[in-house]
Amino acid sequence: MSETVDTTSSRPSDLGLSRAEIDTLSSQVTKLVTEYFAEVSDLPVFPQTSDGSTIAHLDSRLPLAGEPLEKLLAECREIINGIRHNGHPRQFGYVASPATPAGAFADLIASALNVNVTAWRSAPAATELERTVVGWLGSMIGYGEGAHGLLTSGGSMANLIAMLIAHRTKAKDDTARKGLWNCGPPMTIYASDQVHMSIQKAADILGIGRDQVRTIESDDSFHLNVRALRDQVREDLRTGLKPFCVVASAGTVNTGAVDPLNEIADLTAEFDLWFHIDGAYGVPATLDEQKRSLFAGLSRARIGPLDAHKWLYVPIDAGCLLFHDQAAAREAFASDEADYIKVLERPDTDEAFAFWDYGIELSRRFRALKIWLTFRYYGLTRIAAAISEDNSLAAYLERCIEKADDFELLAPVELSICCFRYRPKESKASLASASVVERARIEKDLDALNTRLMLAVQRGGQAYLSNATLRGRFALRACITNFRTTQADIDKTLDIIREAARRDTKRTNSCSEI
Ligand SMILES: Cc1ncc(COP(=O)(O)O)c(C=O)c1O
Repeated sequence: MSETVDTTSSRPSDLGLSRAEIDTLSSQVTKLVTEYFAEVSDLPVFPQTSDGSTIAHLDSRLPLAGEPLEKLLAECREIINGIRHNGHPRQFGYVASPATPAGAFADLIASALNVNVTAWRSAPAATELERTVVGWLGSMIGYGEGAHGLLTSGGSMANLIAMLIAHRTKAKDDTARKGLWNCGPPMTIYASDQVHMSIQKAADILGIGRDQVRTIESDDSFHLNVRALRDQVREDLRTGLKPFCVVASAGTVNTGAVDPLNEIADLTAEFDLWFHIDGAYGVPATLDEQKRSLFAGLSRARIGPLDAHKWLYVPIDAGCLLFHDQAAAREAFASDEADYIKVLERPDTDEAFAFWDYGIELSRRFRALKIWLTFRYYGLTRIAAAISEDNSLAAYLERCIEKADDFELLAPVELSICCFRYRPKESKASLASASVVERARIEKDLDALNTRLMLAVQRGGQAYLSNATLRGRFALRACITNFRTTQADIDKTLDIIREAARRDTKRTNSCSEI
């Protein structure tokens, strides 16, 4: 008797859920997310919490049996209450943008599909979408129609991949096989002292070494000083080192300074160096007409990262590495060491395309969908307007600081980052007439005061600023990459800092009376 297969019944261990269960799960989760988007501006930017207190509110035992959805969603609310809200209009710390609702829901679709974007053969539509989106990002910033690249977890990963491609291209020996053994003199990278730390980290991971990243002192406006760069390259050549790459920043993480890209491109051409531009934060500002001229020379870089999860408001992780020269990238990564990455399609067809030939990751999320949906839903014109408004708000903050007699600007505002400090009127007067020793003491006191103010503002939960050290001074740093922020939020933030300063003075006075 032949065995009949019952195709309607599911396995006892099926985790797929019934249609009714999925309906409940999706409507409850959507409700939670929708409420979050409606409430985010009214939540404390940073929670009143201390280490371990969120987890103390959750059931943290290893869950052996499933639990009711209501209980789990209640715990999700505890988790929401325990995070810093990057979507809050007064969240100005680091480079942390809100996610658009369209991007967030796109991520849900990507997770449901759970497609692994390794190669066309495993993910045809997702691969085509990623290559399309990368092309959009390239043409958006004037990188030319034929831009190639891949999406990454973020700017650090894009910088790492880029440094590997640069190194492999410029190293004479087959370092991919032999490693750096007996490969001649150290190969050196050049960047300003404002460069993002992921470049040094990449040099470390690749075995080039952090010391081989020659950081050039930036000029008064925190740009790479091209004359000093030239001197350093010449000096290193004279002493037998092997300069191979210059990293320019198109929007430094500290102050948002855009290095003089054309001048640097000329220098790299003169010395036959690889030209890399880190635009992870700043490059989307090319969409702001008022800022576009700052980026002249951008397309002369061989390669560069741009994070859609920063200033294009796409949910994390959405980094992108763009390059002109696909062959150099492929040369750096392609290998045929394993059967499972052998592509049996004709090599000259799109069906043979594989992302593992251009980067580090094998398993990769469907990152393109959230960029694709964000761009299609809002249109680039609307996104560009949000970026321009962020820049205008940073300029407004700069004007407020300049007008105030209790604040001081510590760096020019070039894009959407403003670095400043609180400086009580009395210290302004005493600095003007102070001796060198007194000046050093006043500066030290101002650093300590601004550190306390930043921590007080962060913990107060009404606004969030981070910090930068600029020419040895502690700066309060506001990075505006947030489509919810308004002028009223800027005004309120300055009031919040002033209030923190008043409390600080009160506390200090009462301590000195004891
Ligand atoms: C200029 C620059 N490069 C690289 C990075 C690193 O990006 P990610 O945090 O996505 O790794 C940042 C992060 O802020 C940045 O501002």
